[in-house]
Amino acid sequence: MKPFILIANFKMNPTTLAEVEQYKSVFERELGTQELLATKVILCPPLLYAGAFRNFDERIHLGAQHVFSEKNGAYTGEISPVMLKDFGVEYVLIGHSERRQYFHMSDEDTGVLVNGALKYLLTPILCVGETRAEREKGETETVLQKQLEAVFQGLSKMQAEKIIIAYEPRWAIGTDVLPTTQEIQGVQRFICAFLTERFDEPTVGRMSIVYGGSVQNDILAAVSWEAGMDGVLVGRATLFPYEVVKMIQQAETRNLSNEAHT
Ligand code: PGA
Repeated sequence: MKPFILIANFKMNPTTLAEVEQYKSVFERELGTQELLATKVILCPPLLYAGAFRNFDERIHLGAQHVFSEKNGAYTGEISPVMLKDFGVEYVLIGHSERRQYFHMSDEDTGVLVNGALKYLLTPILCVGETRAEREKGETETVLQKQLEAVFQGLSKMQAEKIIIAYEPRWAIGTDVLPTTQEIQGVQRFICAFLTERFDEPTVGRMSIVYGGSVQNDILAAVSWEAGMDGVLVGRATLFPYEVVKMIQQAETRNLSNEAHT
């Protein structure tokens, strides 16, 4: 069975190392001895704090919020996939809507970054999603198709199945306005159909698609497993360690009850 994936995006928070240390101690206290048998937890702190999380807890994986495509060279201000990998980072968010919006990242740019990440053995978490205006015009699928095509064209099955796709409707990010379970399920099916057309069913079956946008513990089920999603990408709620731990516990409990029924 695929693990439930919980990606926690700190965005540009917190602002001091002291807060990072406090976060870690609350997280550890809340998580206690909980075994993570069915949940993969990926924490994506600001890169400057990656070191503080590197040897934090062996149950936790480390992700970055951005990466450049090249190995090294004259690219002032950028961090290379090789550096991330060497540092112990395994995952990287690519094409988050805030990078698309504030840093003008295009669909083509995301394709280049995904290729760079794959080349140097990082797992890309590709974020896709439509704006409110696009949704209102009925363009959700056209937008997603374009965002996905820019990345998946030219990839082999083996490369494709390494990518985690995060469907994040932009209008649901930071707003507490949520799509319905049925709407998310519709998008999940659309993405699977898109991938199946290009690759094959076993390949797509091994891939993970998660939902992101205003995720909290109390709506976890409705936006993830009830909608056919393999996990969630959490933004604001990440900043509350007890909230993250509650989600982990909920995902683990669900798995245990699933096992009891099989
Ligand atoms: P949010 O952010 O959970 O605060 O809506 C989601 C995200 O940044 O991916």
